[in-house]
Amino acid sequence: MDPNILATVRDFAASEAPLVVLSGAGISAESGIPTFRGPEGYWTVGSRHYRPEEMATLGMFRSNPEEVWRWYLRRLAVCRGAEPNAAHRAVVDMERLFGDRFLLITQNVDGLHLRAGNTPGRTYQIHGNINFVRCAGPCSNDIYPLPASVELKEKDEPLSDADRAALRCRACGAWARPHVLWFDESYDEELYRFNSSIEAPAGAGMLLIVGTSGATNLPMQIGSIAAGQGALLVDVNPDRNPFSAMAERANGFFLAGAAGTVLPSLLEAMRRDG
Ligand code: OAD
Repeated sequence: MDPNILATVRDFAASEAPLVVLSGAGISAESGIPTFRGPEGYWTVGSRHYRPEEMATLGMFRSNPEEVWRWYLRRLAVCRGAEPNAAHRAVVDMERLFGDRFLLITQNVDGLHLRAGNTPGRTYQIHGNINFVRCAGPCSNDIYPLPASVELKEKDEPLSDADRAALRCRACGAWARPHVLWFDESYDEELYRFNSSIEAPAGAGMLLIVGTSGATNLPMQIGSIAAGQGALLVDVNPDRNPFSAMAERANGFFLAGAAGTVLPSLLEAMRRDG
């Protein structure tokens, strides 16, 4: 990597300023989880019967909860079968290095950052986590793990009677739903740390953006706020995307490459104290 870039990252690490990491599906690609918008992406392939924009909605869940659950239980089988990769591990080491100066904002619902060792208190999962469920009705916003008895699906197969019985809110008996943000829903603080995520970049010295196409609104806002405050923006991605130009305009960098290769190098630069 360009020595000037490594020196800039090292200087940042030696300062008192916080590091905010913003991750998207690309950071889990090397773990074998398809992204959303790539050729094999979830939003490209969809389900057998519906387009993804229809599938990942509260409207669809209300009219056809079993179809939506089938799709999520297949995705969950992929996520549970995946292991954190070198990029996830580098982000864990960044949290250990920066301590209170560290925050991770992730769009990923696969839970791999937490499995790798990032702490829940410093990990904002702004689109939820598919390992968890909550009541689909109005009874409460309590979030709890998907019951272990629910069978994950290797292929598109129907729910069993036992699945149907287990996928129920344990308080009121209504359907339980995946704890994820859907296309026809809005960010909020209680479930998705919306306000906290908007506030986070204000004090950041560096925003490290990894593996996201910048297609959703909140991440773009986070990038703009950080750039406006003069933070160092670094975008890691094999392909250029809206964050690349934003980073370069803000005197930051676009680092073309896979997260599992680039992040360990950045971590090394952060560790060097001069
Ligand atoms: P996308 O599928 O839109 O973008 C994935 C990005 O990862 C692309 O820019 C790829 O170039 C990049 N990428 C691929 N392999 C990579 C690698 N090895 N290392 C680094 N980057 C790599 O996924 P997101 O940007 O995460 O929201 O999508 C954002 C949101 O859109 C998702 O969280 C989801 C979706 O609608 C909800 O479900 C609410």
